[in-house]
Amino acid sequence: MHEELRAALAGLLDGLPPTRAAQAVDRLISNYRGRTPTDAPVLRDRADVAAYAAYRMPATFEAVRAALAAFAARVPDWSPATHLDIGGGTGAATWATAATWDGPRSTVLDWAQPALDLGRELADGILPDTRWQRGTIGDGLTVPPGTDLVTVSYVLGELRPEDRRAVVAAAATARAVVLIEPGTPDGYLRIREARTQLTEAGLRIVAPCPHGDTCPIVPGEDWCHFAARVSRSSLHRQVKGGSLPYEDEKFSYVAATTLDAAPAPARVTRKPQLRKGQVLLDLCTTDGLDRTTVTKRHGTDYRRARDTTWGDPWPPQP
Ligand SMILES: C[S@@+](CC[C@H](N)C(=O)[O-])C[C@H]1O[C@@H](n2cnc3c(N)ncnc32)[C@H](O)[C@@H]1O
Repeated sequence: MHEELRAALAGLLDGLPPTRAAQAVDRLISNYRGRTPTDAPVLRDRADVAAYAAYRMPATFEAVRAALAAFAARVPDWSPATHLDIGGGTGAATWATAATWDGPRSTVLDWAQPALDLGRELADGILPDTRWQRGTIGDGLTVPPGTDLVTVSYVLGELRPEDRRAVVAAAATARAVVLIEPGTPDGYLRIREARTQLTEAGLRIVAPCPHGDTCPIVPGEDWCHFAARVSRSSLHRQVKGGSLPYEDEKFSYVAATTLDAAPAPARVTRKPQLRKGQVLLDLCTTDGLDRTTVTKRHGTDYRRARDTTWGDPWPPQP
């Protein structure tokens, strides 16, 4: 899926001089930077959307894929038959859903027609079970009864507070909800607020948190976030400079469900620190935040700790 998405995105910029593509991305970044929620779509035309897709889709795809993988590990015998991707834009979360489970019927809902048109074009022949539907997030938003999965990825930050509440309330009527935001302090706070709304609506939090109680992080002191590795395209390197072939997309997320599922006992909340003969793990546990040191004396656990990465459950799940 990853390769198919890359190939589709590469085709998008065919024939567009590299400087034109870089200019479009620059314009988009300055549009998004310092933005406040608007009453009109930011992605106004094909150039905006092509720039967004080429520049951001690989990263949002990887972030959503990581969040969905963490959720899927909590419900190993379940897969969604129906999926609604709200504010789905060019469809990154729908690609990630198709990469996680076989054959869900997805609907991508967005108010920006150029984003839906380009998303349909990219997915042509690869995601055949996908509908592209124009719709606005707000009080009137409803999720069709019986929907299995709702994703809302990199959208909450574009919404006014009342629309944010409306989209989370609508999403909470599905069997499973996965919300993803940038891994910034503000993105985390939006996820934290939505998490409370989901538990109040009766859903169970199953990832990344080991429980559905109040998050133990003190706002302003830290923020819960994870990282997904993204290989950089030539456009990326051109716009951002540097020569690294990859970068880490930071994201915050929450997954909640009405299914019979339990969270992991604990989760690794930072990059594990490898020292000589020991591994330091920062964990979120049912008793709050904790740091544990796993040494060679712990045998199998030590070997497992060395293979554990940021965002994994601890202890590793079978
Ligand atoms: C940053 S993009 C994220 C797109 C996609 N979910 C992803 O992860 O790549 C935000 C999307 O939210 C859509 N959006 C923002 N406000 C909206 C609203 N009020 N109603 C419907 N869609 C909205 C935008 O058009 C855009 O496609």
